[in-house]
Amino acid sequence: MSRSLTIAGLAVLIAAAILAGQINLGHAASSAATATQTSPTGTATETVQTEPGLIAAGKKVYRKCAACHPVGEGAGHRVGPTLNGIMGRAAASAEGFKYSPAIEAKAREGLVWTPETLDAFLTAPYKFLPQTSMSFAGLKRAGDRAAVVAYIAQFSN
Ligand code: HEC
Repeated sequence: MSRSLTIAGLAVLIAAAILAGQINLGHAASSAATATQTSPTGTATETVQTEPGLIAAGKKVYRKCAACHPVGEGAGHRVGPTLNGIMGRAAASAEGFKYSPAIEAKAREGLVWTPETLDAFLTAPYKFLPQTSMSFAGLKRAGDRAAVVAYIAQFSN
């Protein structure tokens, strides 16, 4: 009896360790990589990923964005526009936000925010959009970008 309890206790510990691993950033990066290889619906950059572990990781990455970009119910603009509804939307189209001429010019050329264009922008904002007023150096790690895109996509439903 006490022996089986010990085994049950061990199983709980192992399960907890696995769960803890899932919200770890490093793991999210590797699960994003896996999705890239196995996604049946196209390349991972064109598909919003919805794994809970990835979204949890994206929430952490989003701390870098949150001060400038409020999201969620009732979020307004701050230094940057709210990113509510960003997915599938034309660039520079959040009502009531004063954008730079640089992003407005890109929007006239037809820039629409998709997982793919968001990934490109977030990799190197100043390269993608020279003269943007967004002062942010970019996210070097593909896993961080996939995670943050998965996170913000939640506010586009
Ligand atoms: C220091 C403030 C700041 C930080 C940090 C920042 N941004 Fe921005 N962001 C801006 C500003 C300002 C703009 C408007 C750019 C323009 O007008 O050229 C912008 C624009 C954007 C846009 C385009 C919005 C639209 O309506 O077209 C996206 C998407 C975006 N940011 C995502 C992010 C993400 C994701 C992060 C974090 C990884 C981030 N930003 C970090 C200030 C910031």
